[in-house]
Amino acid sequence: MRSATCIRVTGRRSSMVRSEMRVAAFISGRGSNMLALADACAVSDFPAEIALVLSNVVDAPGLGLAAERGIATEAVPHRPFAGDREAHERAIDAALERHAIDLVCLAGYMRLLTPWFVERWRNRIINIHPSLLPAFKGLDTHERVLEAGALWHGCTVHFVRVAMDEGPIIAQAIVPVAADDTAESLGTRVLVQEHRLYPHALALVASGAATVEGERVVLRGHPLPEPAINPPEGAR
Ligand code: GRF
Repeated sequence: MRSATCIRVTGRRSSMVRSEMRVAAFISGRGSNMLALADACAVSDFPAEIALVLSNVVDAPGLGLAAERGIATEAVPHRPFAGDREAHERAIDAALERHAIDLVCLAGYMRLLTPWFVERWRNRIINIHPSLLPAFKGLDTHERVLEAGALWHGCTVHFVRVAMDEGPIIAQAIVPVAADDTAESLGTRVLVQEHRLYPHALALVASGAATVEGERVVLRGHPLPEPAINPPEGAR
């Protein structure tokens, strides 16, 4: 991994060296997870900064939201590359080089990445997926969780591998499924947790607390959360 940028911060009382990982968020649409990451990065001492928001969709709403916050944006539409996915990703890679990016966060980026790009950025691309991987890979996860009758759903942040929605898992959030949930109500409840989970997972990676060893993520110094039961005991 490229070493993170070092910024010397000098105050009246002290001087210190602050290291921040330069992150590019890839989006294709509204960009709510990108905004959650940007909010987290704006807090002092967060170990990463959103240095670029990149989209394959020229008019993705999230691009405008990022620009309003003063974040650099780039649109790299795929259509001009006429099906040559690797050529499209070489153009993206050039943008990442221009902005000296260390890590890519996929945040609703609706294109599969080529093996060329995934290997070039190996262990430097993370993704958020709205299910408890490895269950419910792919699209329409909330509908499929309801059809399956699962009582827990959630979201996962993982390092990206060539196969869709696969790769070492960094962090997961669980969400109970209610008897009267619709895909929309369940998706809304999951999205709230996505906005908590993604900044948390990014901090783990950017601080060096989460690393990949043998295709599993190793975490330093984290207590286990409490187990949970749905429906709760006593609910009869
Ligand atoms: C999120 O549900 C995310 O998990 C999935 O795509 C959606 C993007 O939403 N990968 P947003 O653009 O971040 O609002």
